[in-house]
Amino acid sequence: MAYIAFSRKYRPKDFTQVIGQEAVVRTLKNAVELGRVSHAYIFAGPRGVGKTTISRILTKCLNCKEGITPNPCNKCENCLEIEKGSFPDMYEIDAASNRGIDDIRALKENINYAPIKGRYKVYIIDEAHMLTREAFNALLKTLEEPPPNNIFILATTELHKIPDTIKSRCQIFLFKPPTTSQIKNYMKNILENENIPYEEKALEVLAENSEGGVRDSASLLDQAVTYGKGSVKLEYVEEMLGIVPKNLVVRFLQRIKENNIQKLITGIEKLDKEGYDLNVFWKQVLQKLHEELINISINEKGEIFDLEDQKALIYIVEIFNQAYNQAKTNFSPKNVYQLALLKLKFIPSLKKIEHILQGDDIPSVQLTSKKEAKESASKKISEEKKDDISSIIEKIRKDIGGIVASTLEKSKIEETDQNFVIYLDSSIASFIKDKLSQIEKYFPKPVQIKDLKKEKKQKSKKRDETVDKVLELFQGKVIKYEEE
Ligand SMILES: Nc1ncnc2c1ncn2[C@@H]1O[C@H](COP(=O)(O)OP(=O)(O)OP(=O)(O)O)[C@@H](O)[C@H]1O
Ligand SMILES: [Mg+2]
Ligand SMILES: [Zn+2]
Repeated sequence: MAYIAFSRKYRPKDFTQVIGQEAVVRTLKNAVELGRVSHAYIFAGPRGVGKTTISRILTKCLNCKEGITPNPCNKCENCLEIEKGSFPDMYEIDAASNRGIDDIRALKENINYAPIKGRYKVYIIDEAHMLTREAFNALLKTLEEPPPNNIFILATTELHKIPDTIKSRCQIFLFKPPTTSQIKNYMKNILENENIPYEEKALEVLAENSEGGVRDSASLLDQAVTYGKGSVKLEYVEEMLGIVPKNLVVRFLQRIKENNIQKLITGIEKLDKEGYDLNVFWKQVLQKLHEELINISINEKGEIFDLEDQKALIYIVEIFNQAYNQAKTNFSPKNVYQLALLKLKFIPSLKKIEHILQGDDIPSVQLTSKKEAKESASKKISEEKKDDISSIIEKIRKDIGGIVASTLEKSKIEETDQNFVIYLDSSIASFIKDKLSQIEKYFPKPVQIKDLKKEKKQKSKKRDETVDKVLELFQGKVIKYEEE
């Protein structure tokens, strides 16, 4: 017997066999039952999720010889012909190849004839968004007031390309991709029906890795059965998909938790050498991280991470997502991923980074370079010296006068190894400069006067560089900027 692909063999024959699309199915069944079927529908959604399938089922509902019914018999001549695509009152028009005004004109002539065999003529216009503007215009009037017993279904993967004037004359149904567990059950049903042995875990992996539609998952299953020589086992499925065994992914996440950058980087190196597709692996990691985040927000605990890691995890996922997108176009995905892992080094200072992104407390942010550590240490010392300086100012107050003293009091005074630096607003600097020789005597080291504004400018420039670095690292943006 000739081999028939699962997707064709298991195309749903009625509404009960449709996977997902609950809202669409429910509304259409009710419409049929209540005699409220519209004359124009738009079925919009991704590829292989049931737009054509449901169009045909609706055609059966309206034309089954047993009468108009939400449960067509699937035995009568009409049902069988619709199934095969040979029913004379069902027109499947591919707008990708019949996009012009002439095709629509032909269609408009056709609608004036009565149905040949059934009760309704159904026009299924596939890829409807491909019609030309003229063709759409020609269709407008027809959609508004079609002769009775004509039904139009415009199927499209790109709803946004359908003109509003058309949309407003149709009932729109949005088709959604099925969930992973719906796909898994769908595969299970097929395998059980075919008496093909399978491992539950293998189906999970297949379902997780089939992108989107039911058609795609059916072909993936086909492929897996062939690859596994008549059975569906985890080991073969992983091999076929080029994916890394789950326990390795879990171990990778554990290293992230330990912040063991070195092991993570050598891990990537190893997988690459063993011939794994790093993009596939990275996607697995992202999936698992996402799972962890969801578990943390629901149960306060994941398999590997806890509530306290939540914030860090969000940053990690962001960095990893970015890397995943970059790796697709980079000459070396390995390099991109290793760089992303290096960025994890900065995760421990997340709290501070958060502050920067909010704009407060900027100068205290240190990406702990040696120089900066030194700076902060000297700051501490200067705190201790504050007392010394105030006693100096007290003496100046007595000897030189209150105005000079209070000016100094309000100013920033720093002690360096060689001297004291007084930062003054330029408007007052000359006043104090005149008194410099008098003041200096009270200080144990030479005194220098600097313009406060100039200094501030330089400092804030330096600060911007730090912020820029962090912003670049996390692709963040400054939400609030505060003056010191
Ligand atoms: N919701 C579903 N339930 C069960 N099987 C489905 C479903 N959607 C798709 N399939 C399977 O996928 C195959 C293709 O589905 P269908 O032709 O209805 O997709 P479509 O949405 O029209 O896609 P396209 O945009 O590519 O035309 C069907 O033969 C069927 O086996
Ligand atoms: Mg289709
Ligand atoms: Zn029938």
